[in-house]
Amino acid sequence: MAKKETKNEAVNEAKVEKAEKKSTDKKVAKKAENKIEAKPVGIMETVLRDAHQSLIATRMPTEVMLPIVETMDKVGYHAVECWGGATFDASLRFLKEDPWERLRKLRDGFKNTKLQMLFRGQNILGYRPYADDVVYAFVEKSIANGIDVIRIFDCLNDIRNLQAAVDATNKIKKQEGRGESQIALSYTLGDAYTLEYWADMAKKIEEMGADSLCIKDMAGLLVPYKAAELVKTLKESTKIPVQLHTHYTSGVASMTYLKAVEAGVDVIDCAISPFALGTSQPATEVMVETFKGTPYDTGLDQKILAQIADYFRPYREECIESGLMSTKVLGVNIKTLLYQVPGGMLSNMVSQLKEQNAEDKYQDVLEEIPRVRKDCGEPPLVTPSSQIVGTQAIFNVLMGERYKMATGEFKDLLRGNYGQTVKPMNEEVIQKVIPGEKRSTARSAEATGHDKPELESLEAEMKQYKQQDEDVLSYALFPQVATDYFKYRDAQQTKVDVSVADTKNNAYPV
Ligand code: CO
Repeated sequence: MAKKETKNEAVNEAKVEKAEKKSTDKKVAKKAENKIEAKPVGIMETVLRDAHQSLIATRMPTEVMLPIVETMDKVGYHAVECWGGATFDASLRFLKEDPWERLRKLRDGFKNTKLQMLFRGQNILGYRPYADDVVYAFVEKSIANGIDVIRIFDCLNDIRNLQAAVDATNKIKKQEGRGESQIALSYTLGDAYTLEYWADMAKKIEEMGADSLCIKDMAGLLVPYKAAELVKTLKESTKIPVQLHTHYTSGVASMTYLKAVEAGVDVIDCAISPFALGTSQPATEVMVETFKGTPYDTGLDQKILAQIADYFRPYREECIESGLMSTKVLGVNIKTLLYQVPGGMLSNMVSQLKEQNAEDKYQDVLEEIPRVRKDCGEPPLVTPSSQIVGTQAIFNVLMGERYKMATGEFKDLLRGNYGQTVKPMNEEVIQKVIPGEKRSTARSAEATGHDKPELESLEAEMKQYKQQDEDVLSYALFPQVATDYFKYRDAQQTKVDVSVADTKNNAYPV
């Protein structure tokens, strides 16, 4: 009996050895064949945030999202982007939804998938710098309500404006074991933005304690071979994972991803096909198919992706029919590459000129934009710097004299209130626009006087509406819009609609 057992063991051992050898042989053969080790590329799905922000002005309501969440959770995405950017503002302002409630519902549905958000550095999700206590509270509540990864960026790439949000995320990660910080560099072109610049930034980001880094190409300016160069440089400069985010606006995005993946990028941002292309991201299914059978194979199942696409297709049709999705945003806008101006900025410019009956000045303004950008230190063009530079360029052309008039925001930019630019600003312009004024070299929160805690005073201003701690943060970011929403919510709960209240007779329709 004992002998038989020993014999069996020996046979089994021999079998295992043989199998192991076979698999090693196979691996060696495969390695020789491909010359590259398997390195599956991760996919972040953007349909619940950037894709609908780019194509339908952020108007996708939670009720459209929820029925497909269970299926999306089976895909095995690197992450799903679902919050931040304009979603917060649009939920409160147009959809009359509590964005925190949306996040909690998504968290309930996504049991296996990381949820990601976009965060405007010291501006959080708003338009002005906040004190550190508000930044901290916002990060804490975002993670508590379901966010896993916070992508943090600054419109000037002034990394001092990112530190508070990164520190907050790291602190909560230590306490709760959840929460990752990703720093996004706003990609742009210009003399200052050399490969050395990006490499240096990548090192600083790693030193700051970020878990990963992202190249955020909001305008679709990153062309394929430049992407390969940039990714290679970043991968050589840092050990943290590198993610790439771009838009299809200029028509090169999927080629850019192909070259970036070959150069070693770890994760790419894609949108399911009915909400891809145009001003949105490359299509998820297309990128998955592109890398199938290569060392970069994502491993994602096209059958599940097809179910998701089938779900969103009728909604896309609905959006086109209602005019919410304009065919204008679906094509290729080559001007974005030729003038290095983001697509959204071009359409803003056209409507501003129309209002002034000055559409014939389009070309002049287009040529003035790079000059204004140079004068103010060559910043990336992303919210809010894109609006500031664009509007000032229009002023310069329409007034017939450069900087005869300047917007308040342009003055603030020159004052240093948004932080420091990569290149120095034009001294002559500074002397003309803000003569004799003191300029700040501090980070944005200090430069604008938000250097002391402000959460308590914000809470005092809105306490009559507070139903949850998160309401204070909604109010902090959008005081007017949030207050309108709170009134609407109160009315819904009491079945009294204040907006149709008969104030004259002090009567409410019930
Ligand atoms: Co984007």
